[in-house]
Amino acid sequence: MDRRQALKSAAYAASLFGLPMQKARAASSLPDGKLFASNPEGYWSRIRKEQFLLPEWRAFLNNGSLGICAKPVLDAVFDYMNRSAALNLEEYPRWGYETLDPHRQELADFFGCKKDELALMHNATEAMSTIANGLDLQSGDEILTTDHEHPGGISCWLQLQARHGLQVRKVELPIPPKNSGQLADVITSAFGPRTRVVSFSGITTTTGLIMPVKQICDAARAKGIISVIDGAHMNGQVPVNFHDLSCDFFAGSPHKWMFAPAGCGLLYGREEMLDKLWVNVATAGWDQKQQLKAARFQMVGTNNRAIFEGLIAGLHFLKDLGPQRVYGRIHQLSRMVYDRARTRPYLDLMTPEDDRLYGSLVTVKFKSAELAPVWDALKQKRIWVLNGQRLRLSTHIHTRPSDIDMFFETVDKALGKA
Ligand SMILES: Cc1ncc(COP(=O)(O)O)c(C=O)c1O
Repeated sequence: MDRRQALKSAAYAASLFGLPMQKARAASSLPDGKLFASNPEGYWSRIRKEQFLLPEWRAFLNNGSLGICAKPVLDAVFDYMNRSAALNLEEYPRWGYETLDPHRQELADFFGCKKDELALMHNATEAMSTIANGLDLQSGDEILTTDHEHPGGISCWLQLQARHGLQVRKVELPIPPKNSGQLADVITSAFGPRTRVVSFSGITTTTGLIMPVKQICDAARAKGIISVIDGAHMNGQVPVNFHDLSCDFFAGSPHKWMFAPAGCGLLYGREEMLDKLWVNVATAGWDQKQQLKAARFQMVGTNNRAIFEGLIAGLHFLKDLGPQRVYGRIHQLSRMVYDRARTRPYLDLMTPEDDRLYGSLVTVKFKSAELAPVWDALKQKRIWVLNGQRLRLSTHIHTRPSDIDMFFETVDKALGKA
């Protein structure tokens, strides 16, 4: 049975039994694992061709801003939309008033937490704001953060500073750092008597640095400081277990690295901390702390459930591929970026060499600011990057080694270094 037939029969089974599509999902149509063992490049090349819509001519090196849906994800979204329009369901085709327990349970099992500690959100920005605005903080309380935060992870605190007199203090991260211990030290040694919250990215948006989350969160907990992790880049890029991370709150964006459709976010709150958080968007259930736990935060009014069917399909896709295989491949590609970048005298590397300190994001800085020919040449070759003198290159399983080579050859040529 080919993939299309398998999908059709799964859809048929789903429509017969009124099941959401992925509960009756097709047997995996991924290439045989034996191919991976004998010819890994052939395996990944087939994954790109068969599981994504990316055309041959597109080289995509900015997965860090927004990832790409795999075909099974699109199938799940379209299927749910179709079934919603046909009302071929036993429940309202929406989220915003529902606890979606099976979805949250599956995510919780994958991320090492309880279902009741997880809420579905639209993105990490929303989750960060939900946390910041939901805590009872007062004028004079200090939020300790870093100078490498994304606006989506720090603006929520800056607004509290402007509005209610909280103090946001930024620690300067060493770039590149000597090691993980140094990163933990610069943050934990900055804890002060007024620090109520420490909030930082688990993987920084600027240089892709993997932070020692557990070490910092453990130290914060010992001092009664609330830890908030902006994990927009973590889910799907590196293994994540919320309980092991030891954080109080975590904000995620599975639409970056988990093949999910745009508009999929996650909020994790450690069970003991959930009571401390007020909801930002209030509707029925806002006060049902004991009954709803984290689900209180996803009671936000009518929303498009198909997106979350896509999120779960993305999770299945990741699980079917094998998360370790995926993390290994995307880092292997990133290492290729690193190794090619280090041979270019016109670049400074901002990502540390230690493989444990980065996943799939490598940041380079051009020594020259005259880069218009570079952007033009990349555009002509249809190589998708986020232009900037400081350039973050990101790789996922659909990135081909040839895309990376083409990027560097194109830049060499545009700068007259070929
Ligand atoms: C560290 C970090 N936090 C937050 C965000 C915002 O993510 P989203 O747009 O999914 O809310 C990003 C986006 O790149 C990010 O890199």
